[in-house]
Amino acid sequence: MKILIVGGGGREHAIAWKLAQSSKISKLYCAPGNAGIAEIAQCIDIKAEDTDGICRFAKNNKIDLAVIGPEIPLSMGIVDTLTKNGIKAFGPNWKCAQLESSKSFTKAFLARHSIPTAGYKEFTDIEQLKSSTGIFGYPMVIKADGLAAGKGVVIAEDEASAISAIDQIMGDRIFGEAGDKIVVEEYLTGIEASVLCFVDGKTIVPMESAQDYKRIFDKDKGPNTGGMGTYSPSLIFNETLETQIREKILEPTIKGFQKDELDFKGILFIGLMITDEGPKVIEFNNRFGDPETQSLLPRMKTDLIDIINAVLEEKLEDQIIEWSDQKAVCVIMASGGYPGDYNKGKIISGLDNLDEDVIVFHSGTKYVSEDGADLPEKQANSLIATNGGRVLGITALGKTHEEARDRAYKNITRISFEGSQYRKDIGLLPDRSEE
Ligand code: AMP
Ligand code: GLY
Repeated sequence: MKILIVGGGGREHAIAWKLAQSSKISKLYCAPGNAGIAEIAQCIDIKAEDTDGICRFAKNNKIDLAVIGPEIPLSMGIVDTLTKNGIKAFGPNWKCAQLESSKSFTKAFLARHSIPTAGYKEFTDIEQLKSSTGIFGYPMVIKADGLAAGKGVVIAEDEASAISAIDQIMGDRIFGEAGDKIVVEEYLTGIEASVLCFVDGKTIVPMESAQDYKRIFDKDKGPNTGGMGTYSPSLIFNETLETQIREKILEPTIKGFQKDELDFKGILFIGLMITDEGPKVIEFNNRFGDPETQSLLPRMKTDLIDIINAVLEEKLEDQIIEWSDQKAVCVIMASGGYPGDYNKGKIISGLDNLDEDVIVFHSGTKYVSEDGADLPEKQANSLIATNGGRVLGITALGKTHEEARDRAYKNITRISFEGSQYRKDIGLLPDRSEE
């Protein structure tokens, strides 16, 4: 099979790494990919958002299957475009992708099917919204309806900060049309957890659990990021919680998809708040999580291509999915300044000095010449440089979480680039002692 992976981050590197182990794959392409992915796949210089360009490439190169990593091409309907052109694609179609691209679409779905979530109200009129601040008390949860690269949620502590957020999102349109509608929610307290599931339209199968660390600094301090580390399995899951999630969330969700004629095929990533009243849905995403995938796929024993085929053929119910008992810890190395402004092009050293059993997943990396000029591909004497906010994910496995953690941290100290930063508490339960 000839496979095209769409995307170019750590998630796509993990998908490529896993697919490259399959005997069923003859050729792997990735658009646009990165310097790490280029070691195992042919990288193509087409942006993930260029859905027409990707479709053209897939047709010209007789691609058997496209695996879509990020949410933007999914929300643009890349799966519909590819399918119409006779190319099999893994990921939800445009209609289903609204479960990530529109908060109000998801809230209405959850309400319609009595799935536990925060109470909410949606607004399209700025004055009406401003006169409704505090409808659910404070903190006030303010969400841009559309995609905003993970930055569209503001938790306002008081009226003044609520008004300022509303002015920026709806007035100044800092997220463009994504903020023309705002969803206001009741504030939930508890512990956050994610559940990623395979869905074939009829059956929903949760993967092993994985925990993400969203804040930039240790002890969950500082602004939100795309995710600064992950480990699997999560220490906060147990049988009682898993049963509650299955009965109150997963089963009503798959029934709801069928009732609403949402033919969801792909990955449903459910963000949860584990509250005193049980798990509640914070959000749906419709793709693999980044960085959750970097701790999950190294633990997956089954060939990912078999699972993807089972999803596309609606045979998930019969598909066995096996996981290793080993624990995985993945620590993200990010550029200095991230998630704010940061510089790119910093030379990365130490990657050839790591233990063999440690996996490095690249996020924002590229090849450069010795004098720092960008190179389209690896060449003699080329170097690897930073090319994004999140740069590398160092994943290690171990018999225990501690063993995996120690291995990941022992190796990360051997890698360096100017300004690099990483959290020191990945794999530990959040320390809330100072709260
Ligand atoms: P979202 O993009 O919807 O996942 O929201 C981003 C982050 O905002 C979540 O990971 C939570 O930390 C926080 N958040 C979102 N909705 C709520 C809520 N209703 N109550 C409390 N925190 C929330
Ligand atoms: N780790 C969060 C996400 O992928 O959205």
